Amino acid sequence: MDLLVHYGVSRMTIKESVDKRRTFAIISHPDAGKTTVTEKLLLMGNAIQLAGTVKAKKSGRQAKSDWMALEQQRGISVTTSVMQFDYQGYVVNLLDTPGHEDFSEDTYRTLTAVDSAVMVIDGARGVEPRTRKLVEICRMRDTPIVTLVNKLDRECMDSLDMLSHIEDELQVECIPISWPIGSGRSLRGLYRLDTDALKIYEHGHGSTTYEYPQIQGLDSPEAKKLLGADYAESAETIELLKGAGHVADHQEYLEGRQTPVFFGSALQNFGITDLMDVFVDKAPSPLERETDNGMVSPYSDTFSGFVFKIQANMDPQHRDRIAFLRVCSGAYRKGMKMRHVRLDRDIKIADAVTFMAGDRARVEEAYAGDIIGLHNHGTIRIGDTFSEGEKIQFKGIPNFAPELFKRVRAKNPLHAKRLQTGIKQLSEEGVTQVFNKLSSNEVILGAIGQLQFDLVAFRLENEYGAECSYEPCNIHTVRWVNSDDTMLLQEFCARTQSQLARDGGDHLALLATSRPNLQLIQERWPEISFTPSREHASVVTR
Ligand code: G4P
Repeated sequence: MDLLVHYGVSRMTIKESVDKRRTFAIISHPDAGKTTVTEKLLLMGNAIQLAGTVKAKKSGRQAKSDWMALEQQRGISVTTSVMQFDYQGYVVNLLDTPGHEDFSEDTYRTLTAVDSAVMVIDGARGVEPRTRKLVEICRMRDTPIVTLVNKLDRECMDSLDMLSHIEDELQVECIPISWPIGSGRSLRGLYRLDTDALKIYEHGHGSTTYEYPQIQGLDSPEAKKLLGADYAESAETIELLKGAGHVADHQEYLEGRQTPVFFGSALQNFGITDLMDVFVDKAPSPLERETDNGMVSPYSDTFSGFVFKIQANMDPQHRDRIAFLRVCSGAYRKGMKMRHVRLDRDIKIADAVTFMAGDRARVEEAYAGDIIGLHNHGTIRIGDTFSEGEKIQFKGIPNFAPELFKRVRAKNPLHAKRLQTGIKQLSEEGVTQVFNKLSSNEVILGAIGQLQFDLVAFRLENEYGAECSYEPCNIHTVRWVNSDDTMLLQEFCARTQSQLARDGGDHLALLATSRPNLQLIQERWPEISFTPSREHASVVTR
């Protein structure tokens, strides 16, 4: 039966629900202020009572999971969390991305699950390397970006220079929406170019949702009085921006070529509401998504979604694994049946969870753009599609070839089994990639960054009770192997067996010892495809 009829829901309800959703991630270089902005958004969305909860968690006082201890040791954030809150009638889903560059794969996958991004830039430092990298990733999918130039309460770069710096560094047109009058000690206020309102800065309101006083009209006597000797210069710059700047074009923003720019201080909670008000109005609602069988509309009646992240033991009180599923169409309702497309099996989901500022609640219903957590008992992998029976597979959730390799073994041979289980689960979570060699029982781990190995060792010991040791191995790179010609593939496997392995998803992979070694094999086997990335949940080649 049609789900909507079954639940007595009208078609409008799905459309209205989807149109009210905004699903985004904050991208920034470490220390630019992502956590502080997140905290202020949650405060504004009434998801937390007092600013400080997110930070407290970061510093460990509210550590929610075992491996946060590692984060504490290193002072980094390696996990992705999801938070949902209401803002002015919109349902906002904020996906946090790991702060450390070693976890770029995880970040990439998170960015496949959002419809837009907010980029936070340190007002004194400008565009930093990690910001540049994240913008490149956003560009791969034309993800629209809104920019916040943060830390206005400190001495910042000249604002006009900042705009041209962003344009030069990121090849995007800047459309200023709010404009600072001064910075640091001489910060007087923020002027909205679109509404002609001047917000007056007062120090010391950072931990509340204080409404800063406003003056309407830059040419009003009150504004002139407030700005005093600074008035003429500010008015001239603003005039210049209005006259000579780029013409704002919503479509250009939606396609990632223009970025609306806001200035503010997350710490003082100044200018963040301006950003958020425009963001919910202009940012795209959930977009249609590509599958192997065409595009899926978020307004479609039938439920579908894909898994972009798996996280284990998020809470020591619930020692389980949660698969994060982005709903792409239709509605999830508690107790519904879903088809696990890769396994071609129906499963009844009664207890999907949602995430509010780190805490979980049971979801009653969810629509496109929402992220729901499915309890995973080892059958769900990153990239898996769930539907209401349709045989579709969402695209664009790749696994990249790792750049670092290590042979792993249990320090205590009696713990070999535990090690195996742990590695299998960690690779399903995307913490590392695993390659089981065909010619021996050697297990090779692949990573993008060194820290991933440390995280794996830490978690193997703490969660699976298996201490591991790493040994160097002579692997330069990996390529996934594919061919429609089974005979040829068999011959290839027989000849190159010592260099072949199966990855965590049981896909055939070539472990090349050097670039020339890879070239030689590619030249010898021109009919076989060797790819540097593979889509998750893709078909297994035998
Ligand atoms: P991140 O998540 O992007 O890594 O940055 P985070 O929010 O943790 O901020 C990094 C540092 O910058 C923090 O200081 C934070 O208080 C500060 N900060 C963030 N936004 C602003 C702002 O608008 N103005 C000013 N002046 N500082 C800001 P910290 O000293 O490292 O941490 P803490 O001791 O303050 O918690």
